[in-house]
Amino acid sequence: MQLIHTIAELRAALAGQQETAFVPTMGNLHSGHISLIELARRHGGPVVASIFVNPLQFGAGEDFSRYPRTLQADCAQLQVAGCDIVFAPDANEMYPEAQTFSVHPPLADELCGAWRPGHFQGVATVVLKLFNMVQPRYAVFGKKDYQQLLILKGLVRQFNLPIVMLEGETGRADDGLALSSRNGYLSQLERAEAPRLYRLLRAAALRVESGDGDFSAIEQSVGDELTRQGWRVDYISLRSRSSLLAPAPDESDLVLLAAAHLGRTRLIDNIECSRPV
Ligand code: PAJ
Repeated sequence: MQLIHTIAELRAALAGQQETAFVPTMGNLHSGHISLIELARRHGGPVVASIFVNPLQFGAGEDFSRYPRTLQADCAQLQVAGCDIVFAPDANEMYPEAQTFSVHPPLADELCGAWRPGHFQGVATVVLKLFNMVQPRYAVFGKKDYQQLLILKGLVRQFNLPIVMLEGETGRADDGLALSSRNGYLSQLERAEAPRLYRLLRAAALRVESGDGDFSAIEQSVGDELTRQGWRVDYISLRSRSSLLAPAPDESDLVLLAAAHLGRTRLIDNIECSRPV
């Protein structure tokens, strides 16, 4: 496995490759990330993972400076997983001049975007840059970040990027908590409380699947229970799986998305569910 820090070296290493599979990350890898590497490996060509904590997607007062940076341990895991190239540019390589062009995606002000202004603009901009650096045939993203995945699929479609988007299921701890680099911020007590989020989402999804059509009551009850247990809820929202907008009356394929803070840590999760039609 090669560890590469510059775009020039990356291009040289990938020259002539037509089937590169690419997994963008911000590092501090866990088995959720590694499952995306495994998905990428099934596609034949070289597997490239990027590790870059992108300042553009963090707002003022967010965790950019304390975001865990664990390059050595990440490389060890990537090597075991069969990754071929780790691309870890520094901020100067990624942004040699102020990034005054940017991508402003739709849905950027919805859900997480409403609570993190500029976040999805930063994500879409860095991912477009990374796509141009790696020029992959395949790119792999996790459903854990459902809104990000939908936005990036739109980016690829609407800008006609010749990239096949692959989706990985959310990797979870045994107690259901979605794996996340941010779980490391949780205290022992918070870590014990954290699985409640997915438990409540699962129970709510069952209500939807059993035909309960009162979506706002379902959202409200999840939010109320989290609040009672000391969480600070950003949103709990049932949306159309394909558009992430409010579901049409006859739409069956839904996703329940949630973001809430436990202490200083903001957790997100989601669950797909289908309403009987
Ligand atoms: P990061 O949070 O490091 O996530 C990298 C990739 O791993 C994303 O596609 C994310 O959806 C996926 N992922 C995270 N947790 C997962 C889990 N528990 N199971 C499966 N996949 C999981 O998302 C980002 O970085 C950044 O926004 C990025 C796209 C790299 C742009 O900076």
